[in-house]
Amino acid sequence: MSDIILAARDLKRDYHLGGGMFSGGRTINAVKGVSFEVERGKTLAVVGESGCGKSTLARMITMIEAPTAGDLVIDGQKIDLIRDGMTPELRRKVQIVFQNPYGSLNPRQKIGDVLGEPLLINTKAPAGERRDRAMEMLKKVGLGPEHYNRYPHMFSGGQRQRIAIARALMLNPKLLVLDEPVSALDLSVQAQVLNLLADLQDEFNLTYVFISHDLSVVRYIADDVMVMYFGEAVEYGSRDAVFSNPQHDYTKTLFAATPRADVASIKARLARRAA
Ligand SMILES: Nc1ncnc2c1ncn2[C@@H]1O[C@H](COP(=O)(O)OP(=O)(O)O)[C@@H](O)[C@H]1O
Ligand SMILES: [Mg+2]
Repeated sequence: MSDIILAARDLKRDYHLGGGMFSGGRTINAVKGVSFEVERGKTLAVVGESGCGKSTLARMITMIEAPTAGDLVIDGQKIDLIRDGMTPELRRKVQIVFQNPYGSLNPRQKIGDVLGEPLLINTKAPAGERRDRAMEMLKKVGLGPEHYNRYPHMFSGGQRQRIAIARALMLNPKLLVLDEPVSALDLSVQAQVLNLLADLQDEFNLTYVFISHDLSVVRYIADDVMVMYFGEAVEYGSRDAVFSNPQHDYTKTLFAATPRADVASIKARLARRAA
C-alpha cells in the first residue's frame, strides 16, 4: 500500500504588487499550478533556477502561506489554512529548514533554549523534559552536551545548520521541507550535512521535500525529482527517469551544465576506455 504523506493538486500562488484600491498593479504568478505526491520516508527534490517559485512552494507546503488555488493534503488531511488556521497538530507534522539558519536563530538565545522552545510553545513538557530532549537531539545531529549553553555565533555554518535541523525535529515532524539547506555551505560540509539528513531520514522515517538548484546534491538525495521553470513543473518523475531521460528543453539545458564532479568521472571513464 502506498502511503502518501503529502499531495499537492494544481497548487497556485499569485502575488499582487503595487496598485491601489481601484487601480491595477501587477500580478506575479509565482507558482502556476503544481501537482505531486510524496510517499512517507521518501525525498522529493525540487530543482530550478532562482525565482522559479521553489520557496513559494515551500511556504505553501509548510502552511506559512495559503495557496491562491489548488489543494494541499498532508497526511490524509485536506488543508484549509484560511478557514481553520494553523493547528498545533499541523505545526507538529510539518517543519522547515532554511538556507541561512543564522537568520532564523536568535543571537541572544542559548542553543538549549533554541531547541527547547518548540516544546515550550507547543507542548506541556516540563523544563526537565525539555532539557533532556534537547540534549538527546544535540547528539542525534552530531553535536554534544557541551554545546547546550552556547550562543549561535559560537558555531560554524555547518554546525548552525545542524542546530536548525535539530530544532525542526524537536516536535517529531513527519515532513521536513528543506529550502536550499546546504547551498551556503562549503562542499565538504555539504556532504556531512547531507549524510546527516540521510541518517535522520532513516532513523525517524522522515519525508523530505528538498529544494536545491544543485543537481549533484539532488542526484545524491532524491527519490523523485520535480523541475520547476517559471512557476511550472516542467518535469516530474523518479530520479533515475528524470536524470537519464529528461523530457523538457529546460531540463536538458540544466543538465547540460554538468557539475564538475560528473565531468571528472566521465573523463576518467573515457580515459579508462581509451587505455
Ligand atoms: N512575498 C512576495 N511578494 C511578491 N513577489 C514574490 C514574493 N515572494 C516571491 N515572489 C516572487 O515570486 C517568484 C518566485 O519566487 P521564489 O518562490 O522566491 O523563487 P525561488 O525560491 O525559486 O528563487 C519570483 O518572481 C519572486 O520575485
Ligand atoms: Mg528560494
